Amino acid sequence: MKLVLSTTLLSGLALASPHFGAADISHWMPAGASDFRGPCPMLNTLANHNFLPHDGRNITREKIIDGLGSALNFDSSLASLMFDMAIVVNPQSNATWFTLDPNPNSASPSDQLNQHNILEHDASLSRSDFFFGNNHVFNQTIFNQTRQYWTNSTLTAQMLANSKLARQITSRTYNPTYTFTGKTQQFSLGELSAPIIAFGNMSAGTVDRALVEYFFEHERLPTELGWKTKADVVALKDILRVSEMISNATDLITDPSIVAKITRRGDLHSGGSR
Ligand code: HEM
Ligand SMILES: *[C@@H]1O[C@H](CO)[C@@H](O)[C@H](O)[C@H]1NC(C)=O
Ligand SMILES: *[C@@H]1O[C@H](CO)[C@@H](O)[C@H](O)[C@H]1NC(C)=O
Ligand SMILES: *[C@@H]1O[C@H](CO)[C@@H](O)[C@H](O)[C@H]1NC(C)=O
Ligand SMILES: *[C@@H]1O[C@H](CO)[C@@H](O)[C@H](O)[C@H]1NC(C)=O
Ligand SMILES: *[C@@H]1O[C@H](CO)[C@@H](O)[C@H](O)[C@H]1NC(C)=O
Ligand SMILES: *[C@@H]1O[C@H](CO)[C@@H](O)[C@H](O)[C@H]1NC(C)=O
Ligand SMILES: *[C@@H]1O[C@H](CO)[C@@H](O)[C@H](O)[C@H]1NC(C)=O
Repeated sequence: MKLVLSTTLLSGLALASPHFGAADISHWMPAGASDFRGPCPMLNTLANHNFLPHDGRNITREKIIDGLGSALNFDSSLASLMFDMAIVVNPQSNATWFTLDPNPNSASPSDQLNQHNILEHDASLSRSDFFFGNNHVFNQTIFNQTRQYWTNSTLTAQMLANSKLARQITSRTYNPTYTFTGKTQQFSLGELSAPIIAFGNMSAGTVDRALVEYFFEHERLPTELGWKTKADVVALKDILRVSEMISNATDLITDPSIVAKITRRGDLHSGGSR
């Protein structure tokens, strides 16, 4: 009797959850041949888990709010804002959906997220630059470059910042079309904060390296390693704060306040008498 009751209770809960049977963290299947995937490891991951459409198509505001909410506990206004920033990739006016990208092997005219220098940019942590070929499929060679700077089992904002700087310097050195605008920088800082936001400790600005590597390499949520969806809701202010931590950590000067003082006095350049 007790068993029957609890089964009834469970199926009641199951009916209340819009994702039951379709999306849950334990369900995971990589993309099939006709499924679309793109340059964002998290959108790919969420599609693999059915938190977003598994075929990678027709991603609407509602699906983003639902998917980021269920999988990562993002609040709906944050998810909605992210959709607003993404929708520019669909060339139709007043588009209500975007897609992950059709062609895994090369850029194609119907690509949306893959379009170079719209959202997709140079010096990614795990993808090659557009100039060198495929800008959207996970690339182990590139990711290994990134991982060289992840020097402890707990990553800090500074290690993440170091890997970002290193990827930019490599790109600027070897890619004659290297482009990285102020807008790219804002997106890039958000992407660098993402591992801490999704899998780490937002107040300390740290994250377990094993979780981040597993996520990038498998495009799968790292539940197998003990990760769980955050209990606290993630809001825009959290992303802004962690992005600022990363941004601060990109400064290579160890006593920035002294540099600011010298620059204000101007005495290095003009004799200091102004
Ligand atoms: C509407 C939601 C989202 C859209 C449209 C989106 C789109 C993108 C795009 C276009 C890129 C490629 C940038 C590049 O060239 O490196 C990217 C990268 C990335 N995204 Fe997302 N993203 C979304 C949500 C998220 C979320 C929620 C997370 C995790 C919390 C995330 C984590 C990342 C990371 C870590 C990268 C960097 C990958 C790399 O550098 O190799 N994204 N995203
Ligand atoms: C779904 O996406 C495809 C492109 O992948 C598009 O042609 C189609 O119009 C979309 N359908 C809806 C219902 O939005
Ligand atoms: C897009 O929306 C704007 C403002 O709502 C409207 O003026 C315009 O006609 C719409 N365009 C299309 C193609 O529906
Ligand atoms: C990975 O990136 C490197 C460097 O851009 C490139 O030479 C290599 O062909 C890429 N590998 C794959 C599998 O695309
Ligand atoms: C990446 O690094 C791992 C060791 O951490 C190594 O086993 C693997 O061969 C490397 N892959 C590439 C493509 O460089
Ligand atoms: C490396 O990470 C471990 C925990 O994973 C931590 O106890 C230790 O203090 C860290 N070491 C350094 C040098 O940051
Ligand atoms: C996160 O880091 C803070 C220190 O910044 C610490 O007080 C807190 O216990 C940590 N949270 C977890 C879940 O480890
Ligand atoms: C970033 O650095 C500024 C200037 O030192 C500091 O006021 C701010 O609190 C730092 N931000 C974070 C999130 O650590």
